[in-house]
Amino acid sequence: MQIISIANQKGGVGKTTTAVNLSACLARAGQSVLLIDLDQQANATQHLGLPAPDSEADSSYALLVESKPNLERLTKPIAPNLSVIPAHIALAEVDLKLASAVNPDGRLRRALSDCQVDYVVIDCPPSLGRATINALSAATRLIVAVQTHWFAYEAVQRLITIVDDVVDQSNPSLEVYALATMVKANQKMDGQVLARVREVFGDHAFQTIIRHTVAFVEAAAAGQSIIDYAHGSRGHQDYANLAKEVTQRYAQTIAQTDYSAVAN
Ligand SMILES: Nc1ncnc2c1ncn2[C@@H]1O[C@H](COP(=O)(O)OP(=O)(O)OP(=O)(O)O)[C@@H](O)[C@H]1O
Ligand SMILES: [Mg+2]
Repeated sequence: MQIISIANQKGGVGKTTTAVNLSACLARAGQSVLLIDLDQQANATQHLGLPAPDSEADSSYALLVESKPNLERLTKPIAPNLSVIPAHIALAEVDLKLASAVNPDGRLRRALSDCQVDYVVIDCPPSLGRATINALSAATRLIVAVQTHWFAYEAVQRLITIVDDVVDQSNPSLEVYALATMVKANQKMDGQVLARVREVFGDHAFQTIIRHTVAFVEAAAAGQSIIDYAHGSRGHQDYANLAKEVTQRYAQTIAQTDYSAVAN
């Protein structure tokens, strides 16, 4: 099982759009996917047309706060191969709630230990609070969504500092990737930022880039993934390519691991 967290403490850079559409494309390609909305704004929940849960006990809040959350009860199937654990506004209080908890950053990892899907995709809030740190600690892969319109490089540097701490303290095998989002091909600035992302992240910058298209805003408003809202559109193509690259990179990692096991 891969656990992919989508993070960047900078707001509005395409995290939720990536979490929702990557999940939808992986599911459409036959992978079983659980999308966890960890943001109090509940944008991913709304984006997929799910109603807000009645209480925090029916949301991802329970994954962080309850001592034995019932994963099956929290999981809402919404399409073939695709389920969601929705968010609740109570996530705003999670830092306070966990202030005196034992192992406050390892709660999500523990809650997901019995999970039986191919991919868990986690949509993080635009902050570096407990919810995000839990997502980084639980993840096998981190995708940093980087908006190329104006590269808030400081925000990314700050995130990487925190990620380094998480890697050192609790999650040494975390792999960090960058995804360029909202790319406008005809703008010089975007090209420069894209080159910078590739320079900094090297092979861990996805070859796939997500182009800017208004269809994403419309799909979110319609409560649909880009697959259903604009089938075959370039937005759909971009996230289908990302899903393909994610699965290929995963397969490569498995092959490498197998090889080293044989070599030793
Ligand atoms: N490739 C794109 N082209 C055009 N618009 C996009 C693209 N990706 C996202 N958007 C739009 O930009 C806005 C912000 O995107 P999104 O909600 O995915 O960002 P976010 O990082 O999750 O934001 P937040 O930090 O508030 O959670 C939304 O209106 C979304 O529809
Ligand atoms: Mg979001």
